[in-house]
Amino acid sequence: MIERRRRLRTDVVSVKIRNHRTEQHMQRDDYTAANRQAWDEAAPIHRERKFAELIAQFSEPGHSCLDPIETAILRRIGIDGKDVAQLCCNNGRELLSVKNLGAGRCVGFDISEGFIEQARELAAAGGIDCSFVATDIYAIPHDYDESFDLVTITIGALGWMPDLTEFLAVAAHLLKPGGWLFIYEQHPILDMFEPGDTADPLALRYSYFQTEPFRNEYGLDYWGKARYPSKPMYWFHHKLSDVIAGCLANGLALEAFEEYPHDISVFTPIAESPIRPPMSYSLVAWKEG
Ligand SMILES: C[S@@+](CC[C@H](N)C(=O)[O-])C[C@H]1O[C@@H](n2cnc3c(N)ncnc32)[C@H](O)[C@@H]1O
Repeated sequence: MIERRRRLRTDVVSVKIRNHRTEQHMQRDDYTAANRQAWDEAAPIHRERKFAELIAQFSEPGHSCLDPIETAILRRIGIDGKDVAQLCCNNGRELLSVKNLGAGRCVGFDISEGFIEQARELAAAGGIDCSFVATDIYAIPHDYDESFDLVTITIGALGWMPDLTEFLAVAAHLLKPGGWLFIYEQHPILDMFEPGDTADPLALRYSYFQTEPFRNEYGLDYWGKARYPSKPMYWFHHKLSDVIAGCLANGLALEAFEEYPHDISVFTPIAESPIRPPMSYSLVAWKEG
């Protein structure tokens, strides 16, 4: 277990790998249960920071929070009338945007009741016909199998998954044969840096090949950028090759892949550096058969 440091610069040389007895024995469902509590705890904080703005935005007909890159990819895949599922949809703003771009039936899945409630409120405020289901992705009922033309996974979702291959298996099961998977994510190379290190943001702190999760107890207030003592949560580093291998292992054939210099998270000072690693990527795959 790697604990991300709260104080930086002076203590980076003493980064500790923590192997608590209890955590050594944590299983997939223990990690997701802990993460659910941390996200539920964050829901009222995000509501206070962002919700009024989102309500105002989605009350405008046709509003989209998607950036030009993801919008162009979705248009290239073709979303008009398509049935779309989003995994880890948070407050629903991305899926509501997809719906506003012309999608058909839209269903968002997220483990946090608090965020699903916000998603439903946003949909109601905009009169947007999307449904939202509070569930662990690993426990999505099989009734949803093979019922979507497109599954989207965007911005800060994969890292919460203790078992990436199984997570991508769920995505594959949800797709109709010939359906599309779209991933638009933070680049995993960012896990090598300490996110709060403003003094030396490009200093390498962690191995690209680490297999232990990061443990964080300083919260999820990425809108207000304030730290608070939070429930523990666990972030899993997945190499790009693991993402690609996970797709291939689940019958998802790679159609397009691109790396970008822009930041799609909202919390790393690397985004201001003229010299920078890849910060985000997109991947499009389709379900064979
Ligand atoms: C950073 S948000 C990313 C979502 C969206 N792209 C956004 O920017 O709001 C991560 C979401 O993953 C959800 N999540 C974490 N683990 C999950 C799990 N096992 N099953 C379903 N959702 C999960 C959290 O509740 C949270 O809403």
